Amino acid sequence: MDATAASITLADVGKVYPDGTVAVDDFSLEVRAGELAVLIGASGSGKSTILRMINRLIEPTRGTITIDGRDVLKQDPVQLRRQIGYVIQNVGLFPHQTVRANVGTVARLLGWDRKRINQRADELLDIVGLDPARYGKRYPHELSGGQRQRVGVARALAADPLVLLMDEPFSAVDPIVRARLQEEFLRLQATVRKTIVLVTHDIDEAVRMGDRIAVLAEGGRLLQYATPAELLSRPASAEVRDFIGADRGIRRLAVTPVRDVMSPYTGPADGLPTVDAVATLHDALAVMLTSDATTVLVTEDGHPIGQVTRTAVFDTPVPETRI
Ligand SMILES: Nc1ncnc2c1ncn2[C@@H]1O[C@H](COP(=O)(O)OP(=O)(O)OP(=O)(O)O)[C@@H](O)[C@H]1O
Ligand SMILES: [Mg+2]
Repeated sequence: MDATAASITLADVGKVYPDGTVAVDDFSLEVRAGELAVLIGASGSGKSTILRMINRLIEPTRGTITIDGRDVLKQDPVQLRRQIGYVIQNVGLFPHQTVRANVGTVARLLGWDRKRINQRADELLDIVGLDPARYGKRYPHELSGGQRQRVGVARALAADPLVLLMDEPFSAVDPIVRARLQEEFLRLQATVRKTIVLVTHDIDEAVRMGDRIAVLAEGGRLLQYATPAELLSRPASAEVRDFIGADRGIRRLAVTPVRDVMSPYTGPADGLPTVDAVATLHDALAVMLTSDATTVLVTEDGHPIGQVTRTAVFDTPVPETRI
């Protein structure tokens, strides 16, 4: 296992707020080390409550939460939070501190010396695509929304946390910036491989970002926990199907690898359009449509390894679940 990531386990976790609101009734989930789990569900379904119980900004009223097997409820909450990156919707940067100081927050709390803090802050700014020489001395109000969001991510990563919690981190920026930030974040995650729990109410974001998606209903009721492709092709109930929407068939194409429906290559390959082995059904279909072909060749390192037919693209079952 990657030493910089840790698994998270929630077992029979519940939260009843002092006024009697049962925000989360009985919630269990396992997030593997290095994976990005998405929590999605209607407003008020308990997503933020669950997230904030992991770093104990909210104390659970029942159940256990462990990070890498260690019970978070038995740790000092302040120490715990320093090991957990937390990114929220409006980023929550300190307005009167420079970008560099904001990124260095946790390192400062951990008592690092100034030189090391600044070095680390600049390294992180670089990683999130902000030139430290240009942006390090600015204040948050001198940045765009997307840039502020990147500073928030840099700050959350600065002390090399085991776990990253993100509550609708991309929702305050416009759709184009959001898509770019999501892409950048996924590239970053491919390198840092943190264990991440990300809350969103945007199914496209969930499908794009998640290794696994947890669909929640009121009271933190877990309707399904599955990979994006599984969720879209086999929603566990009518409730889930309604939630993910009528265009799940199209979304499914974008998350299903051609490898899943590829048949042995029967040749000859002359003139057939090709897609790479890492392509999705969406890519394969796009190639078919633009080249007016009914078969595409799947290649790896330039060699054919199989083929995908139009029938295979459309016949991959998207079963209607009945309950
Ligand atoms: N401090 C509180 N006291 C009482 N009830 C609360 C408190 N905080 C949240 N709640 C309630 O708990 C439930 C879950 O809230 P939570 O913020 O976890 O939902 P959410 O899924 O994050 O929603 P959203 O998508 O709108 O952010 C809601 O019914 C909410 O009103
Ligand atoms: Mg919320």
